[in-house]
Amino acid sequence: MKLSSPCPPEPRCGNQLSDHKLSVLKFGSSVLRNTEDYARAAHEIYRHTRAGEKVVAVVSALAGETDALFNLAESMGGSKNAGLVARLVRNGELKSAALMGLALESAGIPVAVLDPHEMGLKAQGDALDANLVGLDAHRVLRHLETADVIVAPGFFGEGIDGPATLGRGGTDLTAVMFAHWLGASRARLIKDVDGVYSEDPRIDPDAQRLECVSYEDAARISRGLVQSKAICAAQEHDLTIEVAAVGKGYATKIGREQRRVGLARSAAPLRVAVLGHGAVGAGVCQHLLAHPNRFILNPVLVRDPVQHDAEARSGLTFTHQAEESFADDPDIVVELMGGLNLARSLSQTALRNGAHLVTANKAIMAQDFALLHELASRNKRALKYTAAVGGGAPILETLDRLSAHAGIMAVDGVMNGTCNYIFGQLQRGERLEDAIKRAQDAGFAEADPSTDIDGHDAADKLSIIIRHAFGIAIEPRAISRQSLNDLSPGRIRAVAEQGLVLKQIGSCSASRDGSIRASVEIRALPVSHRLASLKEEANGFIIHLPQGEVSVFGKGAGRWPTAHAVFADIMDIQRLAVTRSYPQRANMCINDGPHVGDRYA
Ligand code: NDP
Ligand code: HSE
Repeated sequence: MKLSSPCPPEPRCGNQLSDHKLSVLKFGSSVLRNTEDYARAAHEIYRHTRAGEKVVAVVSALAGETDALFNLAESMGGSKNAGLVARLVRNGELKSAALMGLALESAGIPVAVLDPHEMGLKAQGDALDANLVGLDAHRVLRHLETADVIVAPGFFGEGIDGPATLGRGGTDLTAVMFAHWLGASRARLIKDVDGVYSEDPRIDPDAQRLECVSYEDAARISRGLVQSKAICAAQEHDLTIEVAAVGKGYATKIGREQRRVGLARSAAPLRVAVLGHGAVGAGVCQHLLAHPNRFILNPVLVRDPVQHDAEARSGLTFTHQAEESFADDPDIVVELMGGLNLARSLSQTALRNGAHLVTANKAIMAQDFALLHELASRNKRALKYTAAVGGGAPILETLDRLSAHAGIMAVDGVMNGTCNYIFGQLQRGERLEDAIKRAQDAGFAEADPSTDIDGHDAADKLSIIIRHAFGIAIEPRAISRQSLNDLSPGRIRAVAEQGLVLKQIGSCSASRDGSIRASVEIRALPVSHRLASLKEEANGFIIHLPQGEVSVFGKGAGRWPTAHAVFADIMDIQRLAVTRSYPQRANMCINDGPHVGDRYA
């Protein structure tokens, strides 16, 4: 995300840079044990990008691959030539970086994967135990103008005579040096333990997790958990290292710190009721099942459980009876059915019963915005719905950050992925009916696709945007709309001949008198317009501020981008439950911990 002057617009896909914090996150082999772990890592990265950070993700090879490559070198009799061994073993990290890039792409996060030679990452010393000595920071940061995440392979750099590796655990050193050279505000090493312990916790059950520890202490007690060269480099450059586990909201800080013991943090798994197992629900269930220590799933509510027989597996059963989904007082209800009637009543029931509510349903959020916030606030429960607008593009999170201080003037956006996808197909000469069918098959369209085509879905989203940008209630039905059906083949051809691009644009702006103008229109944009560059199911938003513009981009529809957004909301609640920020059901009215909803109630 970046503040830029209002014009001239140019095509781009990432969220712009300048006022972002930059985080370097390192994923080691202990958290990349198999290819499924890349989705978990991508989700961890998404947690940071939705909080407004740009991320450099530094990755190790998949567990076991570096050893296998060293053994392979050995079997070729090659251990005498360190340069050739380094050339072989770096491939584990190169492959891992590409896999991470693919996982991020599937999550809808704008990403660039860069190899050391593309970043001017220089190494010096023994080809199997080198140090990093330089990075073309300008080149790296330039990529962050169009991407939210850069993925870099750890463990090696370009030496004078070819690739040189940094010794065992060398990806820690890569992360520390990137954080130093890029001026990052965070260098977090993500491990399979939630911090540095006073003793090895596998051996000593009384070992204490440390909140802070000095460089010297960490080098002594971390016993290889953090590479000692990386700790020395951090000390030399006065950089704090965080050591954390995936999904945790806390970390051990290694720095100029006195040793301090952290609070014991544990929480019983939360019981979750998922309502709906379609395009989005199936993705969310997959995320939940990957965290059995954090979540227990109640039977998932569907219309026809028999149709879902083949998907049932350990931890996942189906029911068509809402009472079975709501059994044993779930802590979180995740509504992913869509539609209004049943979704509306079950969402209200969930909050009234004292559950947190997560939903991707823009129709109920637009219609019942005040009521749902009021219920959440009254019951001191969370109401989260970031997936309802923008899919994986974090527009509501960005509006919340900006509206607190920036004085938002207007928002324009492509906010319906189906329409954006269909326009692309029409431009390729496809018929409207066929393009709609494709969008349905891809899982982008609403159950009734006329909701997308006629602009109702965009109007619902715009109504929610107006709440977050201006704090004002505008009913979706009060927003004027144009339908794709109003487009004649002649107009589509004429627009293409003029070199323009058709887009469905939702716009809202505040007038001096405080009134709001809002519309969903089909516009023909010049190709140089920032929103014209959006492809397929992408969404994009331009937020107009007195001092310039902020843009937010990402995939706006489809299973994985949406499931990541929903799961991020669930994980936010889980982290707050761990810190006991939400009162327990039994003493719900006593504890006055933080809760979502006040602002809009
Ligand atoms: P789907 O139509 O793919 O899935 C809906 C699921 O809900 C199905 O499992 C269905 O059961 C179940 N369901 C629907 N009605 C009932 C009912 N009356 N009783 C019991 N179960 C019911 O929808 P999506 O996953 O695409 O969308 C879910 C929500 O997420 C919607 O609110 C949508 O607007 C929103 N959303 C969707 C995005 C996307 O890209 N698809 C992106 C952002 C938000 P069964 O399987 O038996 O039919
Ligand atoms: N049908 C919606 C769209 C799903 O295409 O944008 C995402 O909200």
